[in-house]
Amino acid sequence: MTAIERSDWTPPQDLGEDLAPSVHLVTFGCQMNKYDSELVLERFLARGYRVTERPEDASVVLFNTCSVREHAEERVYSHLGALKDLKRERPELVIGVVGCMAQREGARVLKRAPLVDLVVGTREFPQLPELVDEVRSTGRARVAVAEETSVDVAERPATPAGRQRHAFVAVMRGCDLNCTYCVVPKTRGRVASRPAEDLLREVRSLVEQGVREVTLLGQTVNSYGYDLPGRALKLAGLIDRLAEIDALERIHLVTSHPAYVTPDLIRVFAEQPKLSRYFPLPVQSGSDAVLKRMKRGYTSGGYRERVAALRAAAPDLELCSDWIVGFPGETDADFEQSEQLLREIGFLHSYVFKYSPRPDTAAFAVADDVPEEVKKERNQRLLHLQEESATARYARFAGGVVSARVSEQSERFPTRLMAQTRSGHQVFLEEPDAGQRAALLGAEVRVRVARFTPFGLYGERVVETAGSPA
Ligand code: SAH
Ligand code: SF4
Ligand code: F3S
Repeated sequence: MTAIERSDWTPPQDLGEDLAPSVHLVTFGCQMNKYDSELVLERFLARGYRVTERPEDASVVLFNTCSVREHAEERVYSHLGALKDLKRERPELVIGVVGCMAQREGARVLKRAPLVDLVVGTREFPQLPELVDEVRSTGRARVAVAEETSVDVAERPATPAGRQRHAFVAVMRGCDLNCTYCVVPKTRGRVASRPAEDLLREVRSLVEQGVREVTLLGQTVNSYGYDLPGRALKLAGLIDRLAEIDALERIHLVTSHPAYVTPDLIRVFAEQPKLSRYFPLPVQSGSDAVLKRMKRGYTSGGYRERVAALRAAAPDLELCSDWIVGFPGETDADFEQSEQLLREIGFLHSYVFKYSPRPDTAAFAVADDVPEEVKKERNQRLLHLQEESATARYARFAGGVVSARVSEQSERFPTRLMAQTRSGHQVFLEEPDAGQRAALLGAEVRVRVARFTPFGLYGERVVETAGSPA
């Protein structure tokens, strides 16, 4: 192991187990951040670190941060503040801020939180173990937020514990769109898609390690390939190629942009049985005036048309949206158009956010003029409508039988298993027998639906008896 040294630090006499290399990582933000955190941990594990549950037990504490709303950044600073005593007791503890806030704030993080040793942006996190060694050997804080670096994650070390059934794979990173409220183009930089051959190799290797389902990740996953030269595959072509991997059973997508819903993508929803029929397609607002000021690049009518084409191709498609309420200048009438669109489309899920002005975005220059109480009220109203929408989506299955894949055992209800249909419906099934529960993990089951809530379908497994139809 590398020497643990820091110029301003004398090692305590009792060099017990607590100085064994160990890392504690806290993740904020989106699915891409959770995935990046997995990649970071894989790298530390490969270097002999263990992962700890508590910061007190770690030699390295990292925060993988998000800048999308102000609240997300404030939470990081309050976590950092809580580490003051620990850092005073153990100055050799390396504290790092990684990801979008690190990229946006750079050295300013050190000013506001001087206990931080490392600030590492969205493109240099794969080098974290080496950067930690560097801080230890120089005893000085380090900021690594270069913009020209590209993320190199082609190599994923095998995890000692083996792979789960499901894995995330980032197929592209960054965003070239410039929605006026959004800090992501600033923090993640320009679009960079990974070559299809690299992705195919990575997924084949994951499948050899036991993976059966992958989620293809990107800030706008359906813009995959447009930045690659010449006739490089786009998302639909990539999905077709991935689907040729025999043991791979399901392909999920997170998250997409309406502007890149192409005829080819619609075709792949119609034709590719391995592609999940759950599609996150954030609309943000139902008002054309607001969409225009957001620079989303489509109207509510354009969104409706894309959804109609997708549903014509794949009638079992379920949609999920993100919404922003209280964008500057959003009137009651604008907001009612969002309510109207939510009702009309009938989303299975919605994430609703109150507009938060972000530095370095175009909308930051415009007054944040919708009062907080109004934002709150609109947020509640949209969430309430979403609950009604989900209930209606689930009600269609009452009394029927659905097929679903068992993903896990419920933590709260010991006799309950959780499963998902191909369209992303949540299914809860009772299975009193512990042996059966273990045997069913990962299996496709048929469930008779006894009841439903906005959160899913509830029922019992249909046990096929000899001679019953397959
Ligand atoms: N690339 C995705 C979204 C990435 S950010 C897309 O284009 O849909 C995730 C979500 O955060 C966005 O969909 C948006 O709803 C929300 N968001 C982004 N910036 C925000 C801001 N300044 N205030 C409130 N919500 C915001
Ligand atoms: Fe942000 Fe818009 Fe890019 Fe999504 S598409 S990441 S909301 S700029
Ligand atoms: Fe947040 Fe960065 Fe994701 S700003 S939403 S962690 S891309």
